[in-house]
Amino acid sequence: MKTLTEHGLTAAALERLANAPNARTREIMTSLIRHLHGFVRETALTPAEWKTGIDFLTAVGHLTDDRRQEFVLLSDTLGVSAMVDLVRHRHLRRGTASSLLGPFYRAGAPELARGASIAGTTRGEPIKIRGRVTDGNGRAIPGAMLDVWQAAPNGKYDIQEDDPTKMNLRGRFIADADGRYEFRSVKPRSYPVPDDGPVGALLRAQGRHPYRPAHIHFIVTAEGYEPLITALYIAGDAYIESDAVFGAKPSLTVGYRRNDAGNGDPAEPPEMIESDFALAPALPMPQARSRRTTRAAPKAREAKRSRRAPHRARKAVYKD
Ligand code: BEZ
Ligand code: FE
Repeated sequence: MKTLTEHGLTAAALERLANAPNARTREIMTSLIRHLHGFVRETALTPAEWKTGIDFLTAVGHLTDDRRQEFVLLSDTLGVSAMVDLVRHRHLRRGTASSLLGPFYRAGAPELARGASIAGTTRGEPIKIRGRVTDGNGRAIPGAMLDVWQAAPNGKYDIQEDDPTKMNLRGRFIADADGRYEFRSVKPRSYPVPDDGPVGALLRAQGRHPYRPAHIHFIVTAEGYEPLITALYIAGDAYIESDAVFGAKPSLTVGYRRNDAGNGDPAEPPEMIESDFALAPALPMPQARSRRTTRAAPKAREAKRSRRAPHRARKAVYKD
């Protein structure tokens, strides 16, 4: 038996992975152990600091249930979710940039007619949002589906309101033969991510604010194209440069402009956003990395595929 040095301990932990049946699991665990051990050595983490970390993760777990996902919020505020998204799209050269799904997506938003409002009776400054869905070469994608959701001007999503069963500020729209979509809403506002738990405490300990700049979420899907999970961010927002979850991007930032159709027509809002979405061709499915995944039965492969579908990406939501 050897006495383990700092680096010898890392080597020993890595050797224990030799029999991992799945090559990808081995790859991920090797990197995770290397980085975690390196982190402890680099910071000379004390036992008390290690315990603080364990207590923190325990509190994150205790707060997580099917209505509040504090672990996802932790990943979001550390920039890990945005990094996973960047890496996933590193080979997509064409198409509109993606952005975080966030925890407030709900499947089954009402399918609305072109031009309809998603705002119901919500009070706020009315706007119109319109544009085209194309293939990146300017060719229309007729029938593309746009699933849209946003927070109310009070900074809350419908699911955070007193009656979370009621849907509001959500809708699904189908692009017309020319790829055009159009709907009405109210201006979104910046809002804080839930900061009353351990992740909020960690943000404060880092001297960070919890705000996201005003935005409208979109999932744009069409047969044969990569699903686009994205958002439009409002130029000039106080938090556009310091989004708490690193989702805002220059290419997704839009301004309001005058709606010329608004002159005298009470149904036309005075301001509008015009933004096109370009979809990239569907990526091939990732190569199986081990014999076990290569041999997976068709049924198991299908279950895996549907777990990746954007609409089912995250069921859990934060409660206010
Ligand atoms: C959102 O934009 O809805 C969101 C994203 C990440 C964390 C919290 C909220
Ligand atoms: Fe949001």
